[in-house]
Amino acid sequence: MEVIVCRDYEEMSAKAAEIVIGAVRKKPKFVLGLATGTTPLGLYKRMAEANRAGKVDFSKVVTFNLDEYVGLAPDHVQSYRHFMDANLFNHVNINKVNTHVPDGKAKSLLAACEKYEQMIADAGGIDLQVLGIGRDGHLGFNEPGTSLASRTQVVVLTEETIEDNSRLFQNKDEVPRFAVTMGIQTILNARCCLMMANGKNKADAVKGCVEGPVTAMNTASALQMHPNAVVIVDEAAAAKLELLDYYKWCRKGKEQLTNLL
Ligand code: F6R
Repeated sequence: MEVIVCRDYEEMSAKAAEIVIGAVRKKPKFVLGLATGTTPLGLYKRMAEANRAGKVDFSKVVTFNLDEYVGLAPDHVQSYRHFMDANLFNHVNINKVNTHVPDGKAKSLLAACEKYEQMIADAGGIDLQVLGIGRDGHLGFNEPGTSLASRTQVVVLTEETIEDNSRLFQNKDEVPRFAVTMGIQTILNARCCLMMANGKNKADAVKGCVEGPVTAMNTASALQMHPNAVVIVDEAAAAKLELLDYYKWCRKGKEQLTNLL
């Protein structure tokens, strides 16, 4: 796991944008996994800016989002489809036909989950999955206790997640209790995982993810088993990392190493 510690949210977003934009430039038919939430907003803003400036082309890119609330139609203002349109897809030259968000209104949610897995496989698998992390260490909506071998599934959200996400709704009672989410194994199948975290309320989750045991109690810790996982954090989210100085030392060493290889 490569840990990149940044000064603040802006630097974290810029670093993530550099990685994502660089990867898309190398492979125009890129399959990009995306996340919603507050964390990736700075990344999406930079992706849109780079696209406007002609520095990156999304016309052949295919996307798969991590999750969607059960019961919310795509045009519901709190749906993750709406979030993605408003914060990224409407601002870049992506073909919306190539953008996928799990169907939270499917007649058979189980069939929709299987179909989502099949669509990812048919697209050739995810090249890079963008991730945030919940305060309880969730990736996607894979709450503590979820199998680390899980595939796209229907899950029950914890009270903590409902509370955290209620800031975007009129009140807590409006937050759906269920969601469809890629499973942890689905996420681990991506060729690269790029997780971002900022702010001190994420410090415990980041500590568990990066340095804790690999455990279903912090599903993000499964990233330790991924051969190509990059974790980009700001100083506040990195504050509880025991090997913080070492991660910073490694970054300097890596620059020198790149010149030697
Ligand atoms: C969103 C998702 C979640 C969020 C996490 C952090 O698609 O899958 O795992 O990444 O809840 O949310 P924010 O970024 O709002 O703190």
